[in-house]
Amino acid sequence: MRIVILSGAGLSAESGLGTFRDVGGLWQKYDLEEVATPEGFARKPGLVHQFYNARRANCATASPNDAHRALADLQQSGMAEVTLVTQNIDDLLERAGARDVIHMHGQVMRALCADCGHRWDAPAIMQPHDPCPACLAPATRPDIVWFGEIPYHMDAIGAALARADLFVAIGTSGAVYPAAGFVQEARHHGARTLELNLEPSDTARLFDETRLGPATRIVPDWVREMLNQR
Ligand code: APR
Repeated sequence: MRIVILSGAGLSAESGLGTFRDVGGLWQKYDLEEVATPEGFARKPGLVHQFYNARRANCATASPNDAHRALADLQQSGMAEVTLVTQNIDDLLERAGARDVIHMHGQVMRALCADCGHRWDAPAIMQPHDPCPACLAPATRPDIVWFGEIPYHMDAIGAALARADLFVAIGTSGAVYPAAGFVQEARHHGARTLELNLEPSDTARLFDETRLGPATRIVPDWVREMLNQR
């Protein structure tokens, strides 16, 4: 069986990393135009680095939760070919033991040189004009896909969706494309679709099945069910 699992901020919410659009979410505290667009970075690079330095610090002090661990267990069980696609920029799935996680919106623990394309492990604190370790240009940025930029690994994601028997969306509002369109792509190729969320997402009607509850409960429950089918 081939399973594609798309995760969003709800997967890491119970690790304390917060979400974007829930009450009290990040986009109620910050103007996303200022901190999550290339134009915002060009205008105020210091503010954007400050925003991601804070996200990076939160990520470093957070721990994977039972939902991250359950997904890593499912992937390692060998009972299915599991492709983990995440919109999250944290590394909690990797720290829970998951492998080959596809970060379509980038990773806050990585840095990118806008001049030469070099990528490296980001320092705890990034600042404007930090020189790129490879070309020395003062053009470093967090390796994050901002609004208006093309998400990473779309070819690999499209190929996985085309072959999926089951598509599962976990903890994502279905508010942002192209991720929000993955359920339709999977259905078009004949996959069954399951949504695991605290409340119905904007695309809930497109799922064959929806289970509601906190990820740390409903994701391990679902993984246990899958493993019992072996
Ligand atoms: N368990 C499960 N789901 C949860 C939990 C929880 N404990 N807490 C919140 N959720 C769900 C909410 O119901 C919602 O559907 O997580 C989702 C959070 O939605 P968003 O804040 O919109 O996060 P996400 O869907 O990941 O956003 C997508 O938008 O801002 C961009 O790049 C950013 O990757 C992000 C993208």
